[in-house]
Amino acid sequence: MKILVTGGTGYIGSHTAVVLLQAGHEVVLLDNLCNSSPVVADRITEIAGRPVTLIEGDITDSDTLDQLFRQHSIDSVVHFAGFKAVGESTQYPLPYFGNNVAGTITLLTAMTKANVKKIVFSSSATVYGNTAPVPYVESFGRGQTNNTYGLTKSMIEQILEALSSSDPEWSIISLRYFNPVGAHESGRLGEDPAGIPNNLMPFIAQVAVGRRKQLSIFGGDYPTPDGTCRRDYIHVMDLAEGHLAALNILKPGIDAINLGTGRPLSVLEMVRAFEDVTGVKVPSQIVSRREGDLPEFWADAEKASRVMSWKAKRSLNDMMEDTWRWQLNNPDGYKITE
Ligand code: NAD
Ligand code: UFG
Repeated sequence: MKILVTGGTGYIGSHTAVVLLQAGHEVVLLDNLCNSSPVVADRITEIAGRPVTLIEGDITDSDTLDQLFRQHSIDSVVHFAGFKAVGESTQYPLPYFGNNVAGTITLLTAMTKANVKKIVFSSSATVYGNTAPVPYVESFGRGQTNNTYGLTKSMIEQILEALSSSDPEWSIISLRYFNPVGAHESGRLGEDPAGIPNNLMPFIAQVAVGRRKQLSIFGGDYPTPDGTCRRDYIHVMDLAEGHLAALNILKPGIDAINLGTGRPLSVLEMVRAFEDVTGVKVPSQIVSRREGDLPEFWADAEKASRVMSWKAKRSLNDMMEDTWRWQLNNPDGYKITE
């Protein structure tokens, strides 16, 4: 198959591209490089041992999309492109609706024109909302989210549902990611956040490598076993393989599937695991809670196993080792290492 990967030079898209190439698919990446580097395409090719095509362009630009679908006979689309900073999304809602929601509508319109009706969409556990019980099960409805980013994911899922009801030829899977961490085992691909990382793992890694002084742990008084928040951290390569599994079972209709491990880990457990695996101390301090954080959530991972024979395989040690290898080999991300 020939697969279009939007946002394909980003963190999750790049790892997924490797998995798709290694499974024998042809891959076209579309990325406007607003949060990634073109170097990533070379590294994908290097790891997979097969070329990948990178088109620098925007999902909000229908001319680019129409041309792409004319030039390449795409069978299916894996749609990662979008903005993802939760805090920023609430401060600047319009670019989030514009890029994530309007961008997806433009993409779906171009796909319709080109008669490409298969899509796997990057959704998020955040669509379960603020009050769902844990673990999150797909049969729960979507809940009320307290940030614009989450709202865009929820809106896109609803747009996809409306599209599916209007035209039964569409084959659609929304994958609801829990907390992706880690890097490709080669140390050549990983997460390269711009500026101060919002997420836990890149922050830990940057403290360990000496780029930042200490980790602030947001809240130590949550109703959890050790008082810090718990999340379902999943290795990015497991997540990437989840996309291949989803493409393999795509059929007319629509479905939503969690990609998580089913096991919650606290912030303190993550810091300890990183220190144990790497032997590097991560200075940290418990500070006040971060607005909008939920005490804990994790996936019920049964559906992914049942419907697409996929399970997260990699261990917590793998997550830490691979994060550290990436960080050590690329202390400044993709910037000055080439
Ligand atoms: P990322 O920022 O590393 O990758 C997104 C890529 O999309 C970037 O390379 C960026 O340059 C590109 N992009 C953004 N807007 C674009 C546009 N208009 N046109 C073309 N390219 C555009 O993020 P990621 O962590 O790889 O996340 C990928 C997807 O998964 C996103 O949709 C994100 O919301 C979703 N997701 C991520 C997480 C997470 O924790 N990383 C969790 C749940 C869901
Ligand atoms: N944390 C810290 N210090 C940091 C960064 C994070 O203590 O410097 C804590 C957070 O408070 C949270 C945990 O580490 O308890 C994980 O935080 P992340 O920011 O890494 O991840 P979140 O669970 O907050 O965010 C994830 C996804 C989003 C999604 C959101 C839904 O990254 O895409 O879940 O709540 F929208």
